[in-house]
Amino acid sequence: MKLNGVSVEATGSLLDTVLAAGIALPHLCKDDNLPVIGACRTCLVEADGRIVAACSTPAAGVQECATDSERAVRIRRGVLELTAAMQSGPAGAAGGPRSAESLEAYASHAPRPGQYGLRSGTHADLSNPFFSFHEDACILCARCVTACQELQHIGAIGIAGRGHTARVTPGAGVSFRESICTSCGSCVAACPTSALRPKG
Ligand code: SF4
Ligand code: FES
Repeated sequence: MKLNGVSVEATGSLLDTVLAAGIALPHLCKDDNLPVIGACRTCLVEADGRIVAACSTPAAGVQECATDSERAVRIRRGVLELTAAMQSGPAGAAGGPRSAESLEAYASHAPRPGQYGLRSGTHADLSNPFFSFHEDACILCARCVTACQELQHIGAIGIAGRGHTARVTPGAGVSFRESICTSCGSCVAACPTSALRPKG
């Protein structure tokens, strides 16, 4: 296939092919240890004229893929601006990153501050003795949910609500300490923004 105009070998997903070619592409909900989630849309590329999520699109059958087309970059930047605006706490007062992974993703697309209103009404859950959850850094990528379900088979974390009411929760009306969470730490390790972070 042609990737940004250069012939490359298609392998796995478009994201696999892009990364194998040494091209940087944000992919905030893709964790090598987890099945594809396809939630964050930060990996959008143009493939044969369509905008698709690179992580969930098989490379086989795609003739031309562009990470650098004007359309792909513009749409990805919008997604990253929206994602950054979900982070409203002190470290992200203008909608900012909380980890090296998200910092790199944002920096690569020069998001314009203030394009979207910051999320409000966020809460923190400090109840677990080993980790804490800070909603003002959460981008709803679902990596924690998938790690808890797919790696640990516990299912202690979910995303409740939709759209602007969506939030990560260990269960209706319960804190992490009160939930069925076993404090294994898989969710903390999977979180790309440090919304889930270890204590101490
Ligand atoms: S807590 Fe972290 S891993 Fe879970 S949805 Fe939020 S940003 Fe993603
Ligand atoms: S990495 Fe592809 S949608 Fe999140």
